[in-house]
Amino acid sequence: MKSKKLYTHIGKLIQVREGLKGPLKGNEMAELPYMEQAWLLVENGKIADYGKMRDKPGVGEAEEIDLKGRIVLPSWVDSHTHIVYAQSREEEFVMRIKGRTYEEIAESGGGILNSAIKLRKTAESELYESAEKRLLEVISLGTGAIEIKSGYGLDTESELKMLRVIKKLKENYPGIPIKSTFLGAHAIPAEYKNRRSEFIELVIGEMIPQVAAEKLADYCDVFCERGFFTVEETDQILKAAAKYGMRAKVHANELALSGGVQVGVKNRAVSVDHLECMGEEEIESLKNSDTIATLLPSTAFFLDLEYAPGRRLIDEGLPVALASDYNPGSTPSGRIPLVLSLACIKMKMTPQEAINAATINGAYAMEVADRCGSITKGKQANLIFLKEVPSLNFLPYAFGSDWIDQVIVNGKRVH
Ligand code: NIG
Ligand code: FE
Repeated sequence: MKSKKLYTHIGKLIQVREGLKGPLKGNEMAELPYMEQAWLLVENGKIADYGKMRDKPGVGEAEEIDLKGRIVLPSWVDSHTHIVYAQSREEEFVMRIKGRTYEEIAESGGGILNSAIKLRKTAESELYESAEKRLLEVISLGTGAIEIKSGYGLDTESELKMLRVIKKLKENYPGIPIKSTFLGAHAIPAEYKNRRSEFIELVIGEMIPQVAAEKLADYCDVFCERGFFTVEETDQILKAAAKYGMRAKVHANELALSGGVQVGVKNRAVSVDHLECMGEEEIESLKNSDTIATLLPSTAFFLDLEYAPGRRLIDEGLPVALASDYNPGSTPSGRIPLVLSLACIKMKMTPQEAINAATINGAYAMEVADRCGSITKGKQANLIFLKEVPSLNFLPYAFGSDWIDQVIVNGKRVH
């Protein structure tokens, strides 16, 4: 197989950008630049060049592939997931149908603690196999870069075990940029129930140094939430991680106004994620920062929560990213096409804003914008070729249809 491919007769090449310096903010998100009747040259897994069909270069060494008018997009960048876990939790889903809330289930030892019990008993090899299946699943749905968190171990050995699984995924899937996040402060484990300060001490004094010694995490995240971790605890943990070079992310305001946004901004977080509950103070705090607001509408869908105010945040001039939150408790789905539909329908984002949020802004939210998130010379050729569709607006509109024809990773077809 030739390592040079010239794709021709592309109906629309979407998200063509050169020279972008940072995430799209506010009304910049409305514009999704594209080139009609285009060609795209892929060489050694990278985007080498592109242009209009009327200026098509000679094919030379390259293999020429006629895309017959199809639309081409950069792959999705899913900047928030928890795809390493031992088992699904559909029994809690049924409990919620019968009226119990996510918080009640968590308080009675279900939820994250339920996942931790199962994960501690599961061998690293078995965890790797199931996480790899989920990774391959989301790749087939168009995800071309992904962030993955720990947080179902909640003891040092089990947190390291999860992070080693992520490390192995990084090694075995070099075409998919993967970032790993240490989320030891995801819940207070049962054995520390009445000794929470000792657990914080364990996270800071033992887990973070060991994670850092093995270079297992790019980021440190905390579930700063009513019933989980306080602002003060979050602040301490993020500061401890920063000393080892792990930048901050925060799970903030999923169930209540937690102060998570402000403590994230204060610690120069790359992103604050969830934001189902937002007040004026939270919005002001984001406005005075470089922190990206990452919204996870399939969580609000699955837990039947209020949706994050995506429209408002964009109208306030902020950079918004979209991600899946794929995890066994609050979002057993890594389907970005559904995320796009929910962002449009429930948050009143336009299709163009939603696609920008799930590609280039997602790439900034996990610091892979030098490699992913747009059709840019020198970036990786992680691409989506669509089936025949009438327009780009059709994508979030046709929320039940499978409109992805092919998925390309590093210039090679994988789906
Ligand atoms: O992002 N909110 C915290 N963590 C996950 C859910 C964890 C779970 O229920 O297993 C989330 O929603
Ligand atoms: Fe999450």
